[in-house]
Amino acid sequence: MSDELKRKAAAAALEEVGGGMRIGIGTGSTAEHFIRLLGERVRGGLDIVGVPTSERSAALSREEGIRLSTLEELPELDLTIDGADELDDALNLIKGGGGALLREKIVATASKRMIVIADSSKHVRHLGAFPLPIEVVPFGLGSTERAVARVLETCGYEPRLSMREGRQDPFITDGGHHILDADLRQIADPNALSDALLRIPGVVDHGLFLGIAACAYIAGGDGVRRIEA
Ligand code: A5P
Repeated sequence: MSDELKRKAAAAALEEVGGGMRIGIGTGSTAEHFIRLLGERVRGGLDIVGVPTSERSAALSREEGIRLSTLEELPELDLTIDGADELDDALNLIKGGGGALLREKIVATASKRMIVIADSSKHVRHLGAFPLPIEVVPFGLGSTERAVARVLETCGYEPRLSMREGRQDPFITDGGHHILDADLRQIADPNALSDALLRIPGVVDHGLFLGIAACAYIAGGDGVRRIEA
């Protein structure tokens, strides 16, 4: 069911893609529906070029026959279409459950517009039930983790942090970094938390996408709703 809803959200967003566009291509199971649908359109003659947000999405896009480029060749994109782990009414997001948050944020902010595609279970009143991914460099991991815990405490959260895939065999992002997941339950002030985390030198970025998304297609049992930021 949720998979069918993800496909419906992706299909609705695809309507916004036109010939000649430079498209940022997201990561995750919802974005994969989008890539497959986009591939069908490309094979039917649609001329677009895509910039993928992960090696995984790049591989699937190639299989689908989608022409790919980079932000070096195309520093500005028309549109990015990507999933989210959570989105609120203002279209602030938590992303990075699939480990691609850094490239996703770079590609989304290099685009004139970002469109989110999601099933309705992702639409929440307050962000935070989904653990916030925090991307960190491997060097100095122990100290960075302590600094993150201190920042969380200062911002009023219990510092419940876990290393994605464990300490012995940690998850490695496409950029060679690790991910700490912070279980925050509810994020009271996303902007304050974002600023505080970004002041820690070992933190590369985090999964809060604030003021980036322009619109969202949210698929539920009663159809697909389009909401604007
Ligand atoms: C990938 O790093 C994430 O930001 C995904 O966009 C997010 O996890 C949503 O994934 P699903 O579409 O698989 O739920």
